Amino acid sequence: MKTREQWGSRVGFVLAAIGSAIGLGNIWRFPYVAYENGGGAFFIPYLFAMLTAGIPFMILEFGAGSKLKGSAPKIFSRLSPRWEWLGWWQILVSFTISIYYVAVVGWSISYFFLAFNQGWGTDTGTYFFKSYLMLSDSPMDFKGLRWPIMAAVAGAWFICWVVLFKGVKKGIEAASKIFMPVLFILVLIITGRAIFLEGAAGGLNWMFAPDFSKLLDVKVWVAAYGQIFFSLSIGFAIMLTYSSYLPEDADMANNGFITAFANCGFSILCGVLVFSVLGNMAAQQGVGVDKVVSSGVGLAFVTIPKAINSLPGPALFGTLFFLALIFAGLSSMVSICEVSIASLMEKFDISRKKAVTIYCLVGIVSGAIFASHSGLLVLDIVDRFINNFGVLAGGLVEIIFLTWVCKLDVFKEHINKTSDFRVGGLWVFCLKFITPAVLGYMSIKNLIGDLSTPYGGYPALSLAIFGWLMVIGIVVLSFIFQAHSLKQRGGVQ
Ligand code: ALA
Repeated sequence: MKTREQWGSRVGFVLAAIGSAIGLGNIWRFPYVAYENGGGAFFIPYLFAMLTAGIPFMILEFGAGSKLKGSAPKIFSRLSPRWEWLGWWQILVSFTISIYYVAVVGWSISYFFLAFNQGWGTDTGTYFFKSYLMLSDSPMDFKGLRWPIMAAVAGAWFICWVVLFKGVKKGIEAASKIFMPVLFILVLIITGRAIFLEGAAGGLNWMFAPDFSKLLDVKVWVAAYGQIFFSLSIGFAIMLTYSSYLPEDADMANNGFITAFANCGFSILCGVLVFSVLGNMAAQQGVGVDKVVSSGVGLAFVTIPKAINSLPGPALFGTLFFLALIFAGLSSMVSICEVSIASLMEKFDISRKKAVTIYCLVGIVSGAIFASHSGLLVLDIVDRFINNFGVLAGGLVEIIFLTWVCKLDVFKEHINKTSDFRVGGLWVFCLKFITPAVLGYMSIKNLIGDLSTPYGGYPALSLAIFGWLMVIGIVVLSFIFQAHSLKQRGGVQ
């Protein structure tokens, strides 16, 4: 029997887990979500979501992964063979995320080079959509590949391939030990500079000024839970896989706390960075911050470049910002890929090197659609559906399975055996009641919302193919994989 790979040190594991958690979601998504959902007041639901769902669920995933030592399908099938599909579901969700996530890392690589001389020009919106993406009008209107984007994406895949090829200790752990400190230093440097810009205080006021009336809006609480799940990389098998490489005596509770607090602290730091820069731009234009802020890709690739243009020393600031985005994106990307690689190795009994190479080749080919002229539109639909009906719904099913179908006490004992901080009744209550209730509510609300209003005003056919068909296809495939495994083993024992 092959011995399972293991982390070389506790620091290595914690840095890898933090590397997975801190990603594109922290740098561009968090600042905007916080601003839109009550500014300073958003921290109340955000911290509540972190304490009641994020940390308890992360500790549970650490416990399940380290106890059952396997890839996600193996972990769930060890608990009950009829639940193996849940692991495959999460694997397919991770695979889908990886192929579009890498596209954004690719854009960041391009923008890193553009930052040297602000090659995005003064009209950053026109540059991004018309010159760089050459965006078509409809998701189905692919118009072939954008080769410069494809080349950047291939570069990102290559780095992932190198890291993953070298394995858990020499690859992922070693890379995290470089990526994470560098990322923190980069962000500290640029934030330190940003807060002294003219108008920065105005930007920070916008972000942090609490609008307590928003706390009564359920949408704000839903946004906080959504942000916590994606940001902490929980519910899509990443932390299960990473913790399956832990040694027997690993402290799971403390590691969970450290990872969650580092991630959330980093998000707040990114909020300070982004809003200081936006405050500066607003002050220069003599307008309110609400006039310059934008969401999603627009924030990182249109608004920030525009703000960089008017900074003193734009080349240095710009290159450091996009370098930070690349480091944050790559370390998360590696973790998202490792989920599938671990299962490929187990399912087909192949070497890591082979599994990594196959995965990266399949990823680059199937992800080429995101480097087409309609890439951003397809990405927008896939991202929306996979988050709502993959990450959150998958997390809900997982938590119900682990806490109601399985015996939660078994995991509790396992975690408490080696952790300094012991989990108890409150942890059980959060996992069994609060988190499923909130996730259940969110899933139903998302389903009703997306069925009644076509997302983003996209054509029905595009939503059917890249949205509904994709999420339903993933679930069907999971059951097919499970049936195959059961057949191989000669039925349920
Ligand atoms: N947790 C990763 C992010 O925030 C996936 O981007």
